Amino acid sequence: MTVEAIRVSPSWLDLREAADRAARAREFVGRLRRRAPVDGEWTIHDLGCGSGAMGRWLAPLLPGPQRWVLHDRDADLLAMAAANPPGPAADGADVAIETRASDVTQLRPDDLAGATLVTASALLDLLTRDELMRLIHACAGVGCPVLFALCVNGRVQLLPEDPLDARMAAAFNAHQRRVTQRGRLLGPDAVQAAAEGLRLLGAEVAVRPSPWRLGRAESELAVEWLIGWVDAACEQEPALGLDIDRYRRRRLSEATAGVMAVTVGHADLLVLP
Ligand SMILES: C[S@@+](CC[C@H](N)C(=O)[O-])C[C@H]1O[C@@H](n2cnc3c(N)ncnc32)[C@H](O)[C@@H]1O
Repeated sequence: MTVEAIRVSPSWLDLREAADRAARAREFVGRLRRRAPVDGEWTIHDLGCGSGAMGRWLAPLLPGPQRWVLHDRDADLLAMAAANPPGPAADGADVAIETRASDVTQLRPDDLAGATLVTASALLDLLTRDELMRLIHACAGVGCPVLFALCVNGRVQLLPEDPLDARMAAAFNAHQRRVTQRGRLLGPDAVQAAAEGLRLLGAEVAVRPSPWRLGRAESELAVEWLIGWVDAACEQEPALGLDIDRYRRRRLSEATAGVMAVTVGHADLLVLP
């Protein structure tokens, strides 16, 4: 069992923001626009907002005045989100933000009262199944659309291929599913768990792929991602030993030179009640 105090670094969130933006399922924006609140005014709760990337992406794509309530347990990230708010709405209407220090696994429907949309991005894999179900119940209690974006699904492709890739991916995914003091993390099982949990509550869930596709232009992100991927795999399976050192050196030099194409699988989930 490990003590779980993962803090997400601001520089990592900064580095991934453009790739996230490119990966997000744009089709869902059209669907959300067609389900705008009756009075045209949005109240959007973004759970695990980090430095606020979801709002910076989505707010300018939705018409109408918006109030974003940004939830995170990390006060430093909330301060960054407040310092870099989204631009105006698609029709130029005002977008206001409010930050809320909260543990999103403890939310009750009251905390989301009045929401016209709940979003979360790159969050669900960090939760346990019980935490996810509590969060889904809190969202369902409000009865508004829910967008769970960029949920990792554990599928990774590196080109050119290497015989060790599959073993590395398996070790990394096992690491993401590790047991913590809070229980077993969902890791790559989050997409299926969320879809099942939502459907159990009678919701119709649309799921779309939203993979990162990292090439030469994204080599800085690819390198950082690769370092974290290999380190986690190594922690999970120390027996990889010497093989992993050779693998790390070769893969990092390819990523740095921009000659490796990396696809990291994610999915976006949308619920329109
Ligand atoms: C991978 S980051 C994603 C941040 C942001 N949504 C984005 O897409 O850039 C995950 C975020 O969830 C937050 N987080 C994780 N577990 C949380 C919890 N139980 N309650 C509140 N925030 C949490 C972390 O602090 C971090 O900011």
